Amino acid sequence: GDVSGRTLAIIEDLRHLEGPLLPILHAIQEEFGYVPEETKPVIAAALNLSRAEVHGVVSFYHDFRARPAGRHVLKLCRAEACQSMGGPQIAEKLKTLLGIGFHETTADGAVTLEPVYCLGLCASAPAAMLDGELHGRLDEDCLPELVAEARR
Ligand code: FES
Repeated sequence: GDVSGRTLAIIEDLRHLEGPLLPILHAIQEEFGYVPEETKPVIAAALNLSRAEVHGVVSFYHDFRARPAGRHVLKLCRAEACQSMGGPQIAEKLKTLLGIGFHETTADGAVTLEPVYCLGLCASAPAAMLDGELHGRLDEDCLPELVAEARR
């Protein structure tokens, strides 16, 4: 469909809010699965912001994607509790198994790997979420299975 038309409709719905930028960006990501580059000038003009300001907010928040996600989204917790329980090694192993880095999608379009900052599962660190489902107490041995599930 028409990206700027859908973007304008979202803006019209939400611009009355106090601090409308984040709600609008979330709604746009919900609508398109990511924040298309061409929506930024439309948002900027509607909210009287510069493009750079909109772009800055989009890149500051890890929630916003610059590209469509793969069929499955694997989010690995990068916050403190998980970092202290072997998170960095888990991240390295996951990247190797998937052959991608954070914010990337496997070439077959199956899996997007994203960082997340606390999943509320700190007691079971290190933690990840696959398509909304939580996985705790990750160790290197269970990762191949998690990756296989993600690729399905
Ligand atoms: Fe990882 Fe809370 S720090 S789940």
